[in-house]
Amino acid sequence: MTLYTNPFDAVAIPVVVLDCKFQVVTANKEARKAFGGDDQSSNIQDLLLQKREVRMLLQKTLETGAETTTSLSIKAGFGTVFQMSIRRVPVVDRPDGIALVLTFEDRSSLLDVKAMRSDFVANVSHEIRSPLTAISGFVETLLGPARDDPAAQERFLQLMDKEVARMTNLVSDLLSLSRVEVKERRAPKKTVDPNQIILQAEEIAEAFARKHGKTLVVTTNGVLPEILGNHDDLVRVLINLFENAVTYSREGGEIRMSADVDCGDNPLNKTAIRISVCDQGEGIPAAEIPRLTERFYRVDKSRSRSVGGTGLGLAIVKHILLRHRGKLEIESTLGEGSEFRIYLPIAETSK
Ligand SMILES: Nc1ncnc2c1ncn2[C@@H]1O[C@H](COP(=O)(O)OP(=O)(O)OP(=O)(O)O)[C@@H](O)[C@H]1O
Ligand SMILES: [Mg+2]
Repeated sequence: MTLYTNPFDAVAIPVVVLDCKFQVVTANKEARKAFGGDDQSSNIQDLLLQKREVRMLLQKTLETGAETTTSLSIKAGFGTVFQMSIRRVPVVDRPDGIALVLTFEDRSSLLDVKAMRSDFVANVSHEIRSPLTAISGFVETLLGPARDDPAAQERFLQLMDKEVARMTNLVSDLLSLSRVEVKERRAPKKTVDPNQIILQAEEIAEAFARKHGKTLVVTTNGVLPEILGNHDDLVRVLINLFENAVTYSREGGEIRMSADVDCGDNPLNKTAIRISVCDQGEGIPAAEIPRLTERFYRVDKSRSRSVGGTGLGLAIVKHILLRHRGKLEIESTLGEGSEFRIYLPIAETSK
């Protein structure tokens, strides 16, 4: 049987074969897709040979047989960055007896991850720097103008206390986030009782709401079935939602929480526990809703900061829910309030 297809077409990354005069012998489907042109393409050849470094590497591999690699960015295919490797191979049925095989690995997503990481580090540094700057300003005042003024000293120490609490909050949120991210891929294996989770969250949230002059009303519809999960992480999810509902709702407002079993008409498309946290707050503009779970994203930065917010609460919620194969839905009406609903699949044994 004779195969007339190019076997390189079955390779999932771009492959280009050049002869010893650097003419394209063949280019596979992925290469044609990435660089344009046909399989004996002058397009690809021009694209490669116009780069001096590539010409030098081709020459080096041709002469020494040593593999060479370089990073190559191509405009077609929208800013794709490839790691190009050049290898020399013997070819029996060609007069020159050798060919150069060029393979191209897409490194763009790796670079995106690197960019995200630096972005994250920049954000963290910025968030830590602001309280530090404030504290060092207060220390200066305490040592200088407020040295003999006990009333001012008291005031500045209280402000410092607030800034220290903010930093402690930030560090503990960062730790929680990295902890949940580490185990995100491992789905929980143990069953937990959502009724207990709600009870524990309710106790903590109740005290928090009272402190802020708000009332908490919890209604559960019967006894909820077990789910696969981590008790503490799920309590954290509810606390974060409660804290937001309390923080971003108006004085004297009511926060309602309800929990029930949803039989499948939900974003998970299966029987799940639905827990909803509703507030009578200022609401969230529709355009901001998809961004709320991004790290450090805050609708009103200065407002959130002034109440000690780090912008990590909902990012933590998102990652914990991802691990639990759950979902978060957010609905909000400006001036009326918001509803945050979470869905958690019930354990097989509960069905
Ligand atoms: N119930 C809500 N009503 C109105 N806005 C909200 C509500 N929940 C969250 N937000 C908005 O979403 C932003 C992100 O919330 P998130 O919980 O992630 O961070 P945070 O509350 O600012 O800080 P923290 O890390 O301390 O929770 C908040 O800053 C706020 O602007
Ligand atoms: Mg929050």
